[in-house]
Amino acid sequence: MDPSSNKHRRAESKKYIEREKERTKEKKERMGSNSISKMAARHLRILSGCNGALLSVRFFSDSTLAQEPIASTAIDSASVSPSINTAENHSQLNNNKKHSAPSSLKHAELAKFSAIADTWWDAEGPYKPLHALNPTRLAFIRSTLCRHFRKDPYSARPFEGLNIVDVGCGGGILSEPLARMGATVTGIDAVEKNIKIARLHADLDPETSTIEYCCTTAEKLVEEQRKFDAVIASEVIEHVADPAEFCKSLSALTVSEGATVISTINRSMRAYATAIIAAEHILHWLPKGTHQWSSFLTPEELVLILQRASIDVKEMAGFVYNPLTGRWSLSDDISVNFIAFGTKNS
Ligand SMILES: C[S@@+](CC[C@H](N)C(=O)[O-])C[C@H]1O[C@@H](n2cnc3c(N)ncnc32)[C@H](O)[C@@H]1O
Repeated sequence: MDPSSNKHRRAESKKYIEREKERTKEKKERMGSNSISKMAARHLRILSGCNGALLSVRFFSDSTLAQEPIASTAIDSASVSPSINTAENHSQLNNNKKHSAPSSLKHAELAKFSAIADTWWDAEGPYKPLHALNPTRLAFIRSTLCRHFRKDPYSARPFEGLNIVDVGCGGGILSEPLARMGATVTGIDAVEKNIKIARLHADLDPETSTIEYCCTTAEKLVEEQRKFDAVIASEVIEHVADPAEFCKSLSALTVSEGATVISTINRSMRAYATAIIAAEHILHWLPKGTHQWSSFLTPEELVLILQRASIDVKEMAGFVYNPLTGRWSLSDDISVNFIAFGTKNS
């Protein structure tokens, strides 16, 4: 058949469509493993090595455990650092996996943050809960870091002399007050749009314009051999590909005897009811799909994976929301939102 003829082209297109259908079917089959398998895969990584905990994953021995199917939602390539998002660099990252820490990036999660990057500083927008939570989490960070580094919590700039990295800093809601409290702050995020917004906002105030913002990941900073007195990852671990590896990177960034602070959401029924059903579906505080319940960690799991990363958790607190006042407070109720402070073993 003449390759330039219409008949030939039609036949080629038909073949192409058939091939695509076949590929889509295969992809669906691969992705179709149910959420229990996804959860089990996560648990396997978290729990393997924890005494007595392996029993809970023996039931899920199918091949889906070997590889957690990570949704492949396309991310707006313009919004993520060229150094971490081009196709070339994805394969580079995969190659790097053999030689260095695996990537913590979960592209479907980053796409969600990229889509609403412009709203970081809208106190009534999707980040309203983080703005409301800020004074409460800062109270915990201030008291734990001051105690650990023997700083005066009543001084105006208690973090003077401390070098802090805010991993997954978003638009800088937490980085900015840390800088105002005197810390030398580095804010990193995998979404370039977030970093641009954070930079623009920080430049509005001389006290925050000193923040170093960078579109990168914790593991990349580890490769660059950066070290910090304190490493903070607030509301980030539930969005990363591999929490245990992420904690290892946080630990590698922390100086010996330094501090690591992580806040996240408990994988409890109460968290499902409040952080997902109420916050996303009833109150519309957050866009639907912001959180995946299976990606949450229980406090026990977080303590274990931090321990395995040489971080001893010394203090933990819960954040409790009062719907009447619209305020958050620190509590010993860690059943939904919680924050942990740990120190790096020497
Ligand atoms: C819920 S927001 C929290 C932002 C900020 N920490 C705060 O609490 O105000 C999660 C942030 O983590 C970032 N992120 C997710 N995975 C990341 C990764 N592997 N490395 C760096 N940043 C990441 C997202 O882009 C997003 O800005």
